[in-house]
Amino acid sequence: MHQKLLCPILSNPIEPKPPQAVDIRTVMRHFASHVTVATGALDSGELFGLTVTAFTSVSLEPPVVLICIRDESTAKDLFTQAKRFCVNVLQESQQPIAERFSLTGEAKRFENLDYYIGKGGSPVIQGSLGFIDCKITRVLHEGDHTIFFGEAVDVHGEEMQPLLYLNRKYVKLEN
Ligand SMILES: Cc1cc2nc3c(=O)[nH]c(=O)nc-3n(C[C@H](O)[C@H](O)[C@H](O)COP(=O)(O)O)c2cc1C
Repeated sequence: MHQKLLCPILSNPIEPKPPQAVDIRTVMRHFASHVTVATGALDSGELFGLTVTAFTSVSLEPPVVLICIRDESTAKDLFTQAKRFCVNVLQESQQPIAERFSLTGEAKRFENLDYYIGKGGSPVIQGSLGFIDCKITRVLHEGDHTIFFGEAVDVHGEEMQPLLYLNRKYVKLEN
């Protein structure tokens, strides 16, 4: 049983969140992921982006990928407005970029960053293992995340060592 609390300002009962019966983070933290930075640009020229591991390819023909963005992220509304994103897949030496793009409230994510605006209109980070530059074709909301599907308008990949994330740490492959 959960006690209802009274909010002194609203005088409305606040329902405390029930404890989660199932927490998929228990498994997901042991699931090694590639680290990407999903970037975008508004027509006004404002650039934005964030570190994303929830990225996967969906279809080869047509070439479609998806990213899942937390509803609390400032990027959610920006991607919706921009109607485009670029997934930059980071290589092992780019951990500082992943760290910078995951800091809440960090306004200077693109300062001193080597990037150019790609064919799809989003920032492409130079020196990455690869990128998939997309126009957004579909947006779905599920639970506490929004899923953006994007059809690729340009792609590039190179043989490089990836940056991975496992058990809340950045890791590199050993050769
Ligand atoms: C390794 C790593 C992976 C992340 N993956 C995601 C993700 O897939 N989706 C997401 O919405 N946030 C993800 N985040 C969190 C965002 O990067 C972070 O919330 C965001 O940059 C904060 O900026 P904001 O407050 O401006 O949204 C990840 C963070 C880290 C460190």
